[in-house]
Amino acid sequence: MRVRAFRSRWTVFAAVAMTGALAMSGCGGDDGGGSKNDKSEVEVFSWWTGPGEADGLQAMQADFEKRNPGTKFVNAAIAGGSGTQAKAVLASRLQNRKPPDSFQGHAGAELLDYIKAGQIEPLDDFYQQNNLKSVYPKQLLDQITYKGHIYSVPVNIHRSNVLWYNPDILKDAGVAGPPTSIPEFITALKAVKDKTKKVPLSLGAQWTADHLLENVLLGSLGTDAYNALWQPGADWGTPAVAKALNEFGEIMKYTTLEAASTDWQGAAKAVVDDKAAFNIMGDWAYGYFVGAAPNGLGKKLDTDFKFAAAPGTEGTYMWLSDSFTLPKGAPHRAGAEAWLKEVSSKEGQDLFNPKKGSIPARKDADKSLYTGYLQTAFEEWNNPQTKLAGSFWHGVNANNKWHTDIDTAIGLFLQNRDVAKLQQGLVSAAKNSGQ
Ligand code: GAL
Repeated sequence: MRVRAFRSRWTVFAAVAMTGALAMSGCGGDDGGGSKNDKSEVEVFSWWTGPGEADGLQAMQADFEKRNPGTKFVNAAIAGGSGTQAKAVLASRLQNRKPPDSFQGHAGAELLDYIKAGQIEPLDDFYQQNNLKSVYPKQLLDQITYKGHIYSVPVNIHRSNVLWYNPDILKDAGVAGPPTSIPEFITALKAVKDKTKKVPLSLGAQWTADHLLENVLLGSLGTDAYNALWQPGADWGTPAVAKALNEFGEIMKYTTLEAASTDWQGAAKAVVDDKAAFNIMGDWAYGYFVGAAPNGLGKKLDTDFKFAAAPGTEGTYMWLSDSFTLPKGAPHRAGAEAWLKEVSSKEGQDLFNPKKGSIPARKDADKSLYTGYLQTAFEEWNNPQTKLAGSFWHGVNANNKWHTDIDTAIGLFLQNRDVAKLQQGLVSAAKNSGQ
């Protein structure tokens, strides 16, 4: 049953998002040339430094060190939510042929960039030796497979379209419950602004506006039309996109950008600190909210905060998956393989994901570990009725160029607040993506 459930949901997404990408041509995998047997160390590159996400990484690191006592774990994480700084540093390291032993990359279009640039190695032997093909949903494997070779090891599934809210502030504003459509959302934001002294919608660093954009596009256009935007030749100049962008512009009027320096954590924290009514953020925020102090906030679901699907996106899982790679020329290749083994293991995933606020990529995880919000995530992910959309900001639908060009258009919009120019920017970004 479960297999069928995955199949039916993934089909919807796979049909629209990755088939084009997988059919493209590029280079296959020749040998890396790193030191094959060096297991003395492993340098793991990610952007998990902040409260919440760093705890998940630490839990997996501790298990790795227990199992690999002779291997020094070097945590090369670079701060900046969603990899904003890390990806730039990684690009220059890869270009200068100074790769880490393993780096974090999102399943989907983002991974394809590294594959086509010949920067990572295929992991077919690794999958075979560790019997991994059967433990992941086939359709997730499709997102990390290129020309018949598998290129990364997924550790989780995250959900991007979550609305976190403060029930007390909603009550003070006379808002009966979480808004279920974009127009309702705008009405609720206005009510919070008019009736309370709180921030209606908290935002953090610039990328959190990109994250908001994908949510507003999904909520306004609907799942099929959102997914179609990432198809080759898709038209971003339509009245429907203009409407969604006008709604985005309206919503942006109710946000604060002061929290830029505190990234996504500052914006999410504002909700549980009774300072903001709403925040739209991926479910890594959940790990941060309920995680134990001092890193986590030690907050309680339903008392300190509540969650719902982002307005207009009920029934759709806007997904993304963190995965780890084997770069060509990894200096400690055997160390890297030991790390990938940890990442792929049931134990590793069950240690990592409850802290990270994600559900495991493997099909055989211990369900009882996923409580509160994560129980809902688990159920919705496994519900055959749930539709799928790929997160563009977190690597599924857009390659790195498209991603950067959208961010540039958003950066300009934050200066000029001109919706028509934003749409022009997005039309060009789609045309020039080369995807
Ligand atoms: C995403 C990543 C998540 C989380 C988030 C915020 O791109 O997939 O694991 O780290 O950024 O930093």
